Amino acid sequence: MNQAHSRVVAVLSKHVSRLNAEGALGAALRRRGIASTDMRLDHVPQILPDLQRALKLFGSVDPTRLRDELMSLTPPTGRTVPPPAPTVRRIEIRSEDDIVVARSATRELCEEIGAGSFATQRVATVVAELARNIVSYTPGGTIELEPKAKDRRIVCIRARDRGRGIPNLQEIMSGRYRSATGLGLGLLGTKRLSESFAVKTGPSGTEVDVQVRT
Ligand SMILES: Nc1ncnc2c1ncn2[C@@H]1O[C@H](COP(=O)(O)OP(=O)(O)OP(=O)(O)O)[C@@H](O)[C@H]1O
Ligand SMILES: [Mg+2]
Repeated sequence: MNQAHSRVVAVLSKHVSRLNAEGALGAALRRRGIASTDMRLDHVPQILPDLQRALKLFGSVDPTRLRDELMSLTPPTGRTVPPPAPTVRRIEIRSEDDIVVARSATRELCEEIGAGSFATQRVATVVAELARNIVSYTPGGTIELEPKAKDRRIVCIRARDRGRGIPNLQEIMSGRYRSATGLGLGLLGTKRLSESFAVKTGPSGTEVDVQVRT
């Protein structure tokens, strides 16, 4: 663990057990796609709402007090702190539960960029379809979400997995393929909802890159 991580754990441990402190911080960082080894004190504003929520559950800690304590760790800048640069949200996908996490990360990002509810639903559908394919057909993978740098109303979604690839991709994308189990939207539906859609697939895995306009 690095120094920023230890200092935040030290503050949280004043209110809850060290184990819960580490657990709450770990979960908050994961939701933001930040590795605990890469954590910096300027990540604190981003993870603060999650920490406040978690500590309220663990031990009815006053959220305002917690904010003051954690924000006093960040160095004073002498000017108003700019909003945190949008980081990539990265969600590990292995089980059904991870699809729920991916959906909620999607909704959160959509809220941040001011997307309406229909658009949010569209992005969440795409994310869920890609995540479901990872759960159903591969040993695991990741979904990354971020607003497009040049146009923040567009959400970039990258699904990567360590599966065996999709040898009949052409057939699937032509609409001739009928899945034995599937009844949802699938890859073809994902493409219809997307502004840009690209698949790279091979025997060591698949990467689907999608952009959805909100
Ligand atoms: N990430 C993946 N790795 C390996 N095979 C995949 C992957 N994603 C999809 N496939 C294969 O491609 C087929 C088509 O996927 P698609 O998502 O379009 O439909 P489906 O998953 O079969 O049904 P649904 O409509 O419920 O999504 C799947 O049946 C599966 O065989
Ligand atoms: Mg599918």
